[in-house]
Amino acid sequence: MTSWTIVTGATGAMGAAATEALAAEGRAVLMACRNRAKAEAVRGAILSRHPAARLEIGELDLSSMASVRRFADTLESGSVSALFNNAGAIMRSPAWTEEGLDNTFAVNYFGPWLLTRLLTEKMPGGGHVVNMVSLTCRFVRIDADALTPDPKSFSQLGTYARSKRALLSFTQELSRRRKDLHVHCADPGVVASGMIDLGHWFDPLADALFKPFCKSPEAGVRPALRALADTGTDRYFVGKGDRPVPRRFVAPSLDRSIWEATERILADFQF
Ligand SMILES: NC(=O)c1ccc[n+]([C@@H]2O[C@H](COP(=O)([O-])OP(=O)(O)OC[C@H]3O[C@@H](n4cnc5c(N)ncnc54)[C@H](OP(=O)(O)O)[C@@H]3O)[C@@H](O)[C@H]2O)c1
Repeated sequence: MTSWTIVTGATGAMGAAATEALAAEGRAVLMACRNRAKAEAVRGAILSRHPAARLEIGELDLSSMASVRRFADTLESGSVSALFNNAGAIMRSPAWTEEGLDNTFAVNYFGPWLLTRLLTEKMPGGGHVVNMVSLTCRFVRIDADALTPDPKSFSQLGTYARSKRALLSFTQELSRRRKDLHVHCADPGVVASGMIDLGHWFDPLADALFKPFCKSPEAGVRPALRALADTGTDRYFVGKGDRPVPRRFVAPSLDRSIWEATERILADFQF
């Protein structure tokens, strides 16, 4: 049976770079993407450089818990060795998904949370989970109420940062609950990708002045690639190294309450 490394958002800047690097190492990579045509183009480009690469595409829209479940249902137990929760998005305005979740939290938190819970059930012999977080986490505080934000409190970066902070909390709680897994956070720094276009009139100016100083996607994804090969757990991969999760983010009782609140919110989705 093929043992897949799953990369979500493999069509994006860092997702494509990760997919190529992992395929070049000889891993079988399942590209979990919402846009099949875009994924086929990325897959074709990688195969043109690495003809022996083992790459498949699976359809996954993280804003839909039904899509997450459909994707997970296509995988047999024992067929997943690693999950890289790379996909993410910054929304321009507050919105709800058809399932009633805040859209930013659905894509950046609830979707990866449910996907991880479903797929780690299919890793009976252990495996890796790496969650892509962000330096913006340090500027926000959260509690369980943050999972269901009031639209009046929406801001592009603030809501994004809180959703990533929740993912960081989930990562730590998962590593406490599943000692058989290698569970890590990766922080890419600031990377030149579509993600840092916030949809403002000054984006082209910011692109010209700011993006040359950002990391390339290949450099930004390196901490995550190291995390995917690491045999410890609950480390924070950033820059050229890794360290314990910074103390400002260590709060086991908060992590537990956020986990329990998430289970209540997602109860209808039968994780
Ligand atoms: N760039 C930075 O400076 C930076 C800093 C810190 C953390 N990060 C994190 O790093 C990760 C990768 O970001 P990036 O810079 O490579 O951004 P990117 O190029 O915009 O890639 C984002 C990826 O996420 C996918 N995605 C968005 N919404 C989705 C959904 N509903 N379902 C499934 N996939 C979805 C996108 O798919 P489509 O191609 O279909 O749009 C794309 O593949 C993200 O989690 C981001 O939050 C980035």
